[in-house]
Amino acid sequence: MAKQLTEDQLKELVESVVDRWGGRPDALIMMLHAIQDEFGYIPRRVSLYLSQKTGIPLAQIYEVITFYHLFRTSPPGKHKISVCMGTACYLKGAPQIVEKLKEILEIKEGESTPDGLFQLETVRCLGCCGLAPVVMIDDKVYGKVNPEKIMDILAQYTKEQDSK
Ligand code: FES
Repeated sequence: MAKQLTEDQLKELVESVVDRWGGRPDALIMMLHAIQDEFGYIPRRVSLYLSQKTGIPLAQIYEVITFYHLFRTSPPGKHKISVCMGTACYLKGAPQIVEKLKEILEIKEGESTPDGLFQLETVRCLGCCGLAPVVMIDDKVYGKVNPEKIMDILAQYTKEQDSK
């Protein structure tokens, strides 16, 4: 869950992470993991402070964050959409589902919608290739999905949110 911290708490947390890893550039990935464990993502102001504390250029920090898909730069969404990009799903149209989701949610992989309702990820084989292409939303698996069906599926979550 994303954490709300004061500026001082944030600095204290980054300092403890930097101290733990000696602020070494070769430990950048470990420091980013520790930060993401705390916040649920890597806020921009944290990256800036990490850069100031360690002397690692901000551009280098962002290079690592964007290279490794597991790092997030926005808070996690309420519902996590995981599109399987394993071979079976890929061959049966998973890339088109991802494109459709990016288009309707107006986000990229690894991001959350501005209202915080959805986050979009791609994952490797979910272990139910017979249902390819597969999309998982939170813990629920949807099989034989196509770009039209994904719109209906998302509508259920949007409706559920509207009725609250
Ligand atoms: S490749 Fe998608 S479930 Fe196996």
